[in-house]
Amino acid sequence: MTESISSGKFITVEGIDGCGKTTQAEFIIDGLVEAGLSAKIVREPGGDPISESIRKLLLHAEESMSDRAEALLMIASRAQLTDKVILPQVINGTWVVADRYADSTLAYQGGGRGLSVQSLDSINEFGTYTLKPDLTFFIDISVDVANTRMRVERDRIEKEGDGFQQRVREQYLKLHENEPERVILINGEQSIEDVRAEIWNHVKEKLEL
Ligand SMILES: Nc1ncnc2c1ncn2[C@@H]1O[C@H](COP(=O)(O)OP(=O)(O)O)[C@@H](O)[C@H]1O
Ligand SMILES: [Mg+2]
Repeated sequence: MTESISSGKFITVEGIDGCGKTTQAEFIIDGLVEAGLSAKIVREPGGDPISESIRKLLLHAEESMSDRAEALLMIASRAQLTDKVILPQVINGTWVVADRYADSTLAYQGGGRGLSVQSLDSINEFGTYTLKPDLTFFIDISVDVANTRMRVERDRIEKEGDGFQQRVREQYLKLHENEPERVILINGEQSIEDVRAEIWNHVKEKLEL
């Protein structure tokens, strides 16, 4: 991506289901807007009509889906969202906050399903048009705490069970260890307000607001 002085920044929020991604992504948007910036939230998978159709297939398919088909559909949805929504906005100076992005594929299809993280990394690079987040928040909670927070109706991937969620969490931890400057680990078992304050301090410091 060509950087210009007026480019927006790209922030992603990651973690297992129930960790607080949607709650905190909305708070980041509020903070950015209060700081006088143009800011937009997007969610994965989805965020554009074609991506939303892929989301339905991914989260509610009745038939058994091959792990690789699942990974490629996730990345196809991401390519559409990146090309049609994220890149045009960022280039125009809007800050974009994504509720999940490329790291989710490494954690769920890599850690969770056991596909090669290295292969997924290169397909991600293709699917994201090589866009990398400026900052990623990995909100970490235990699987037990996640279970107390999740809604009653679960989607296809949320139904995978505790062992799966545990492998996803462990892969997220590895992503943090490999790239500690970008992937910021946040203890998600604090109060909503404490998580919010910690995240906002990082946004201000790292992105020089
Ligand atoms: N730090 C927190 N402490 C307690 N409950 C929380 C916290 N963060 C979020 N929640 C609650 O947990 C549920 C899941 O939060 P949500 O933001 O939807 O998570 P995610 O998008 O990661 O699945 C919601 O009911 C939310 O209000
Ligand atoms: Mg959510």
